[in-house]
Amino acid sequence: MTKGGAAPQERAFAALTEKISRERGVSCGSYKDKCLKRRIAVRMRARGVHTYEDYAKVLDQDAHEYQELLDALTINVTKFFRNVETWNALRPYLDALARARPRLRVWSAGCSSGEEPYTIAVLLAEVGVPGVIDATDVDRLSLERTRQARYPETAFSEMPVTLKRRYFRDGQPLEPVRALVRVRAHDVTREPPPEPPYDLIVCRNVVIYFERQAQERLFQVFVDALAPGGVLLLGKVETLFGPARERLKLADPRERIYTKPA
Ligand SMILES: C[S@@+](CC[C@H](N)C(=O)[O-])C[C@H]1O[C@@H](n2cnc3c(N)ncnc32)[C@H](O)[C@@H]1O
Repeated sequence: MTKGGAAPQERAFAALTEKISRERGVSCGSYKDKCLKRRIAVRMRARGVHTYEDYAKVLDQDAHEYQELLDALTINVTKFFRNVETWNALRPYLDALARARPRLRVWSAGCSSGEEPYTIAVLLAEVGVPGVIDATDVDRLSLERTRQARYPETAFSEMPVTLKRRYFRDGQPLEPVRALVRVRAHDVTREPPPEPPYDLIVCRNVVIYFERQAQERLFQVFVDALAPGGVLLLGKVETLFGPARERLKLADPRERIYTKPA
């Protein structure tokens, strides 16, 4: 890229991301530019297009390509019991919550195709506490998969076999587990939490793609949405910072489990 070309290219990039936000409700402004550019470049290469302007035209003409782009922007990789040690570390906190409350309210934010909220549902069933899990994501295709809840064998590779046998048949969660999960469309960067207060909020492998300011804002939202004594699980990849950090206790530094004072 020549120096003279940089500014127009940046303007064209901004115009493209504004278009995507406006038309498809994915708030690109919250994502890191580097991430967006990398993923848009993959789609542009796939279509043999060299400028952001030309790619915008492709999006106007081809609904399938628009969906391909949205899939690329909202990385959906997930599994049941992904990083199983994280869920093992969470278990004592769930036991403690279950002792203190008759029913647990949980939010799985950025749930992708549902493996995470159904993992939590299995754990609630194991702990023996009733509850409801709000499974939310911005990506409609992922939500559809969460609703259908039919999973390939690969989705279970980290799940303890005994739990799979106890709670799944033919790749589908059994009704008592399935019934705990409530699926809904939700953008964490611009909508208030669905139905606070929550006893447990799980948000893993989502905020890494956001700009620092958007991360900081979201962490505040999570802390506000937690009930006193509630638990926030961020997992290995993300770390709480900013004013929200002052309001929670770091209970497990490795798995980034935080608790809100009662
Ligand atoms: C890598 S997956 C993580 C799935 C699951 N939490 C896990 O760790 O296995 C990231 C998910 O975040 C979702 N996501 C990205 N931006 C979002 C936003 N602004 N609001 C809600 N979900 C979002 C994506 O659609 C995707 O399903």
